[in-house]
Amino acid sequence: MQLFSANLLALAVSLASASVQLAIYLATDSMTSYASSITTVWKWAYDPVVAPVSVSGTSTAVVNGMYNGGHATRTSVIPKNNPNLLVVLHGSNANLDMPSQDVKTARAAVKVFNMTAVPSSGYNYVSQGWNAGYGLRNEVSLTFYGNNMAYKTVQTTCPRVVNGQSTDIHIDNPAEELNYFGNISAPDTKWYGYPVCFTLVQAPNAAFNDDTCKAQSSPPRLSYQAHSAPLDAEFMPGSNKLFVTFHGSWDRKPPMGYKLVWIPFCIIAAGPYEPVAPASSNTGHTDILKNPNQTNCAAGCFRTVGTAV
Ligand SMILES: *[C@@H]1O[C@H](CO)[C@@H](O)[C@H](O)[C@H]1NC(C)=O
Ligand SMILES: *[C@@H]1O[C@H](CO)[C@@H](O)[C@H](O)[C@H]1NC(C)=O
Ligand SMILES: *[C@@H]1O[C@H](CO)[C@@H](O)[C@H](O)[C@H]1NC(C)=O
Repeated sequence: MQLFSANLLALAVSLASASVQLAIYLATDSMTSYASSITTVWKWAYDPVVAPVSVSGTSTAVVNGMYNGGHATRTSVIPKNNPNLLVVLHGSNANLDMPSQDVKTARAAVKVFNMTAVPSSGYNYVSQGWNAGYGLRNEVSLTFYGNNMAYKTVQTTCPRVVNGQSTDIHIDNPAEELNYFGNISAPDTKWYGYPVCFTLVQAPNAAFNDDTCKAQSSPPRLSYQAHSAPLDAEFMPGSNKLFVTFHGSWDRKPPMGYKLVWIPFCIIAAGPYEPVAPASSNTGHTDILKNPNQTNCAAGCFRTVGTAV
C-alpha cells in the first residue's frame, strides 16, 4: 500500500460513486497520482499546494487493456528508487486459469511500464511493458526492500489428484507464498508455477510432478499457512521486519489467518535481503495482532487489510 492524503481520499470516494473499482497510489515525487480500475490505470497531476485533486481534472490512461473479470485488484506500485517505473499486478481470471500458463496472456502476472515515455493512448497491458514474473494466481501486494529488490505475497489455491484418485487436502494446502522478485528494472519471465505447480503439485502427471515443477518453476522464498489470505506487505524502514496482513480464510474449518504478522529479515553478504527462516519453514513469522479465538471468524473478528509506513 502506498499512502495517500485526505485530498486523494476524496478522489477515491468520488470515483467509487462512478462505480469504478480502484486503488490510489501517490508517486514518490508527490506530484503524480495513479488510480487503477480492473481494466485501466490512470494518472492525474497532483499538486500538494493547489490540492485537492479533482476528478474533473485531466486524467490520462497510462495502462489499459487489462482483463475485465476474475481476480480484480490491479495493485500498482512505484519503486522508491525508480519512480519512473510503474509495476502493475494482474491476477488470474478464475480459480485455475489454465491459459495463463502462456506468458503472452499477461494474466497471473506482474508487468512493468516506463512512465517517462507513455504512448499517447497508454500502454496495452498485454502486449507492451515488460514482465517481472508470471504464474502468480492472485497477487495483491508487492514491496521493495532497502536495496530496491522486490518481494511479493500471493494467494494460491487446491484437491490433490494422484492416479485419478482425488483427495481433499485443501485445509492445509497449498501454502500461501512470499516470492522474491529481485530487480524489476530488467525484464524477467521467471515462472512461479501457477496454475499447476504449487508448494505441492495438484495433479501430478508426466509433464508436471514434484520433480519437474522443482526444475521449471521458481519456488516461494517462504510459505504461509494455507487460506491465510495475505493481502499487503510493507517493510519497516531501518528495521529488519516485513509486516504482512492476513485477511483470513473463507474456505477453511477451523478458520485461519485474521492477523498481522512480521517476518524477520537479514542482510546476507553480497546478496539480497532474505527472510531469516529457511524456505522450508512454516513458522517463519511472528504474530503481532490476532484475534484471541478464531473459532467463529469471520463473525466478530477483525480482518487486517492494508499496512503503511
Ligand atoms: C525509461 O525511458 C526513458 C526514456 O526513454 C529511458 O531513458 C530510461 O532508461 C527508461 N528506463 C528503463 C528502466 O527502462
Ligand atoms: C537492475 O537492472 C538495471 C537494468 O538492467 C540495472 O541498470 C541495475 O544496475 C540493476 N540494479 C541492481 C541493484 O542490480
Ligand atoms: C472459542 O469460541 C468457541 C465458539 O464460540 C467456543 O466454543 C470456545 O470455547 C472458545 N474457546 C476459548 C478458548 O475461549
